[in-house]
Amino acid sequence: MENVTALSSVIRERTREAHSSSEGASFMSTLLRGERTRDDYISLVAQHYFIYEALEGATERMRHEPIAARFISDRLARLPALEADLSFLIGDNWRDRIAPLPATARYAARIDQVGATWVGGFVAHHYTRYLGDLSGGIHIGRVLKRQFDFDTNGIGFYLFGDIADPSEFKNVYREELDAVPWDEVEKERVIAEVLTAYRFNTEVFEDLARECEARIA
Ligand code: HEM
Repeated sequence: MENVTALSSVIRERTREAHSSSEGASFMSTLLRGERTRDDYISLVAQHYFIYEALEGATERMRHEPIAARFISDRLARLPALEADLSFLIGDNWRDRIAPLPATARYAARIDQVGATWVGGFVAHHYTRYLGDLSGGIHIGRVLKRQFDFDTNGIGFYLFGDIADPSEFKNVYREELDAVPWDEVEKERVIAEVLTAYRFNTEVFEDLARECEARIA
């Protein structure tokens, strides 16, 4: 008889606080309250670019690993949308005009590392970003669209055109998590890596706040 709680529920429970810290980071709350500039928003998009360059590079490397492949879907890909957003927001030379902040560089390096060596770690990072994008991300996209008067240009990152029902997509994803044949030790390692991923996201927001304050000063 199965008497252990489903992994997807355990992850959600054990990362609730870490999620609140990320969600509550002042960069995001002020951005969503309309207290930040378009340049501040562009800085966030640029950091997303470096994070997803790492994540989707890792996805290519992990595509042929049977467990990783259960979670991988081309419908999630964010890099093409980020490239289009940056081109719209900055111009054709956008790639020469953006750089990763220190926390972003550390985050991307960690994704590169686990993405080359550890399926569970890759899934932890994949889950943290994409399930977040399909949850709060949808709401964030709507708020930013209103705030900066975007149509679809500039916020393509938040639009999952190929996923008609994000809730259903997340349910299937959680079922896959619950079905993964990891032992308890591996599950613990994966949960720890999800917590690490949240920490990186919070640190990226902290770096962004510092960068934006420096721009004003
Ligand atoms: C202002 C920022 C944020 C808001 C407003 C927000 C909001 C939400 C909401 C409302 C949900 C629940 C959706 C549901 O029950 O289906 C959610 C889930 C989630 N969020 Fe966030 N979030 C934010 C930031 C983040 C960040 C920075 C991350 C990490 C990169 C993240 C990762 C996640 C994940 C992984 C889930 C899915 C949890 C699960 O059901 O397993 N969120 N978010």
